[in-house]
Amino acid sequence: MRLLSSLLVAAAGLQAWPAPGAAPEDWAQVAQRAADGGCYKCHGEPPRRNVPTLREIAARYAAHRGRLDAATEKALVDRLHHGSTFSHIAAHEALSEEDAASFIRWLVAGGPDAR
Ligand code: HEC
Repeated sequence: MRLLSSLLVAAAGLQAWPAPGAAPEDWAQVAQRAADGGCYKCHGEPPRRNVPTLREIAARYAAHRGRLDAATEKALVDRLHHGSTFSHIAAHEALSEEDAASFIRWLVAGGPDAR
């Protein structure tokens, strides 16, 4: 039964992650994933010490809103995934490529305030 429900969750998850250029994404679902994925353990309000909130990151990424090209998306995904020389965040590194890309697109669209 547990296996069945995780399969159902996985199937629902696939639907929630359309390929780039596919149907518009359901930001409420991505927001839920951020919550379920523990992003707010560090990026909540107030955030963990020295960690930006997801709203602050979204404000930084807003420069790309409406014109996020594939190369920029890839660069942001890579930075999230692999961090810098000084930061390796397990919760980031554990994300699949698609999940990371979805979170990036969501943050560019406004993150917690995306409509
Ligand atoms: C263990 C704490 C922790 C958790 C959990 C965490 N983060 Fe982070 N995150 C950080 C820290 C610290 C930074 C700033 C340093 C850095 O960029 O590596 C950061 C930076 C970021 C950035 C900015 C990267 C950049 O520089 O452009 C994004 C985007 C991000 N996190 C998304 C997420 C998402 C989405 C989740 C949930 C899947 C998540 N984080 C979970 C600690 C965390």
